[in-house]
Amino acid sequence: MTARIIDGKVIAAELRGRVADEVARVRRDHQLTPGLAVVLVGNDPASEVYVRSKHTQTQAAGMASFEHKLPADVSEGDLLALIARLNHDPRVHGILVQLPLPKTLHTETIINAIDPAKDVDGLHPNNAGRLAGGFAALSPCTPLGCIILTKSVHASIEGMNAIVIGRSNLVGRPLVQLLLNENATVTIAHSRSRDLAKLCAQADLVYAAVGRPEMVRGDWLKPGATVIDVGINRIPVPGAKPKLVGDVAFQEALDVAGAITPVPGGVGQMTVACLLVNTLRAACAIHGLPAPAV
Ligand code: GUN
Repeated sequence: MTARIIDGKVIAAELRGRVADEVARVRRDHQLTPGLAVVLVGNDPASEVYVRSKHTQTQAAGMASFEHKLPADVSEGDLLALIARLNHDPRVHGILVQLPLPKTLHTETIINAIDPAKDVDGLHPNNAGRLAGGFAALSPCTPLGCIILTKSVHASIEGMNAIVIGRSNLVGRPLVQLLLNENATVTIAHSRSRDLAKLCAQADLVYAAVGRPEMVRGDWLKPGATVIDVGINRIPVPGAKPKLVGDVAFQEALDVAGAITPVPGGVGQMTVACLLVNTLRAACAIHGLPAPAV
């Protein structure tokens, strides 16, 4: 058996198209142009690539994009002052501070300063707590993308066994909450879990988000499982560009899984598309409009 490849590129493009349609509608009917501000501190090359892609796709969807690049040695006070300005700027409905931040800055202090209504990363404790409580919240983009990709295979995941490997604030923990909201049965595992292979063997849905290249092996999987690989690991290749690999041994998994996301071309594509969704939702909520149809 060869697994079906879940094409994140196609699914993300379709989602971006639906966001663009809704943006056009709120611009026409409500004279509201959703705006996203992205803050990049320092010049980490991977972060620069992400930020550029966010800028391009935000504009392509018909939204306003505001980019703020600050030097790596910016003071916490200056960064907090910028966030305060964005919190009060009526053109800005979403604020994203690209992570990771330089070690000199205290990430928690920075995240806590973002207006929860504009927190399109869903990282503010207000949103994280609302999500964990089962209340409406802005939720982190990568986990939202994982759910959409899963639903491209299974219309309903109610009652299915899911395992989430990884417990980061940005992916693992919120993904667990979104899966619970979908009535899945969720196992939370991580790099210290004992006998991961045995835990995976029970799972209909496997979410790998540990950041360890090809850690999940093909023979760990239940035959027919749906595998969502969140890992983006850069493996150095002498004399060439680094190779991107996921947290799952893709070639091995192909023979066992029912469906699997590739790296690249899987989850990564969905994250920015879901950021556009969150920005549109935030803009509508701030202006008291009904939730958009995406
Ligand atoms: N760095 C990698 N992914 C993300 C993300 O989704 N949000 C932020 N803020 N930083 C990231």
